[in-house]
Order: sequence, then structure tokens, then C-alpha cells
Amino acid sequence: MLTIALSKGRILDDTLPLLAEAGIVPTENPDKSRKLIIPTTQEDVRLLIVRATDVPTYVENGAADLGVAGKDVLMEFDGRGLYEPLDLRIANCRLMTAGKVGAPQPKGRLRVATKFVNVAKRYYAEQGRQVDIIKLYGSMELAPLVGLADKIIDVVDTGNTLRANGLEPQELIATISSRLIVNKASMKMQHARIQTLIDSLGAAVESRH
Ligand code: ADP
Ligand code: PRP
Ligand code: MG
Repeated sequence: MLTIALSKGRILDDTLPLLAEAGIVPTENPDKSRKLIIPTTQEDVRLLIVRATDVPTYVENGAADLGVAGKDVLMEFDGRGLYEPLDLRIANCRLMTAGKVGAPQPKGRLRVATKFVNVAKRYYAEQGRQVDIIKLYGSMELAPLVGLADKIIDVVDTGNTLRANGLEPQELIATISSRLIVNKASMKMQHARIQTLIDSLGAAVESRH
């Protein structure tokens, strides 16, 4: 059995067409179903529906053999036991700092609100800047508007969310896309099966670029 962990929303929406090209189609619509384990047209392949930030945890622990996760989530994940063999080139965005349009440099320590705490610590440590990091779970764009933080770190695509809230993108931390990730033991034990899937998905990705 091959188990693939995916999250609902853009990763599921963008991964299903790639899986379909590799001959794997869910037998029920994961967006409509309340089931968290979804069988596929390949009897020995199933999908797990998990939160985006939980995908690496399932794969590292072998609860799923494979998964699809954003590079932002992988940068934030502090595990070690994962292979990342394929850039699926979906869910493309940028991980950026952002702040209020025209805001002056704050006096004292910079306060940065983000759900990417580990990324933020590394980023400012590399620059030798002392900052206070405020952990949030969503709606980061609100933090500078109500004085909770001077800046945020979040993913930006069109920039519409920043603009709608009077914020501007500032420094680029990383360009982001979603990656296929593989459990290390699964890669050894089911090598041929998994390599075939990687090759099919790789061909599907190439055919669209
Ligand atoms: P979550 O519920 O954790 O926010 P999403 O489905 O919104 O999950 O995001 C999944 C992944 O898609 C993120 O880890 C990131 O890599 C990417 N992503 C997030 N927001 C955007 C966006 N607005 N445009 C493109 N890609 C995005
Ligand atoms: C993401 C991200 C930003 C927004 C950026 O939120 O957290 O808020 O997209 O995209 P934009 O630059 O095109 O506006 P998402 O839509 O995933 O909503 P969420 O809060 O449910 O994660
Ligand atoms: Mg989101």
C-alpha cells in the first residue's frame, strides 16, 4: 500500500491533475467527502487528508509514504528524515517580510508577527538583527494594523491581501513552490514503486512547462 498525504485547498486542487496523469484518481471527491482516508482507482494507493503544516509530520513518521507540502512549510518543519525528490511547481508564491506602507523604522527591537517562527529566527539571526517574534496562526496581515507587530512574514502571491490592508511587500526570503516529499524508509523498502511514481509525476510537471 502507498499512502499519500495531501492538504485540502490549493495543494489538493493542483496535485490531483498531476496524480491523474500518473493514473491515480480518488474514488470519491475529497473536497465533498468528510472521510480523511480516500481510496483511489489504484487499489494499493490511498490519500490522507491532513492540515498543510501536518504533512511533513505524517511523512517523517511513516504514517504516509509520500506527501505534498509547500517549501515554506518544509523550511519551518524542524524534522530531518525526509526526501524531497521533486518540485511540483504548484502553489507558487514568495515568502516575504511586509509592513505598513511608508512606516518609519521602529525605535527599539523590531517586532515580527508570523506563523513561520523558525524561518523568522534564522532569517534575522543571519542578518545579526535582534527581533521579537510573535507567533500567530493566521491573518498575519492584521498584526501591523493594530500595533501588535512592526512587520509580518507570510507568503505573498498576487499581493492583493497586503494591498487590501495597507501593507507592502519588503524583503524576499524565499521563492516557494510545493514539493513531493518521501519517507526515508519507504524510499528504501518500496523503491521501484515510488521511483516509478516520481518519474510519472516528473513527466506530468514537465509537460506543463
Ligand atoms: P493553509 O491552510 O495552511 O494556509 P494553504 O492551502 O493556503 O494552506 O497553503 C498551502 C501551501 O500553498 C502553502 O504552504 C504555500 O506553499 C502555498 N500558498 C499559500 N498561500 C498561497 C497563495 N496565496 N498563492 C499561492 N500559493 C500559496
Ligand atoms: C494566503 C496567505 C496570504 C495570501 C497571499 O492566505 O496567507 O494571506 O494567501 O496571497 P495574495 O498575495 O494573492 O493575496 P490564504 O488565501 O491561503 O488564506 P488562509 O488565511 O486561509 O491561509
Ligand atoms: Mg492559506
